[in-house]
Amino acid sequence: MRSVFGDANIAGVTLKNRIIRSATHEGMADENGCPTEMMMKKYEHLARGEVGAIITGYTGVQQNGKSPMLNMLMIDSDFQVEPLRELTRRVHEYGTPVFLQIAHCGRQTRSKITGFPTVAPYE
Ligand SMILES: Cc1cc2nc3c(=O)[nH]c(=O)nc-3n(C[C@H](O)[C@H](O)[C@H](O)COP(=O)(O)O)c2cc1C
Repeated sequence: MRSVFGDANIAGVTLKNRIIRSATHEGMADENGCPTEMMMKKYEHLARGEVGAIITGYTGVQQNGKSPMLNMLMIDSDFQVEPLRELTRRVHEYGTPVFLQIAHCGRQTRSKITGFPTVAPYE
């Protein structure tokens, strides 16, 4: 029987156990959507605690889809790649995979928040 503490494989990525930190928006990105030092430390802490994998909080792919919840992680500009790489490097030091959850808030956000017209699928 498979144990929660046994290893697992998800799409070719090996997890040392089956305990996964589910995607959780922390509100710890800076004003440009980059992970802050505090956020990196939080992820390092999770990895040091030997969680099997980490899924990041939802990460915006476009400014017009930015969350009304503050300090969302963003991946809509090249300058965000290096800080995200650094976060990944720190987590990988503990042999822990980290998955980036991407998101667009569509009609669940407002132009008052994003500064752009609201876009969403429509019937
Ligand atoms: C503060 C908070 C932030 C969350 N952020 C996200 C998120 O960014 N993306 C997501 O898919 N789920 C998010 N969730 C949902 C959690 O990942 C999880 O699915 C949910 O809490 C149910 O799990 P539980 O029954 O163990 O609490 C969030 C939940 C909480 C409490």
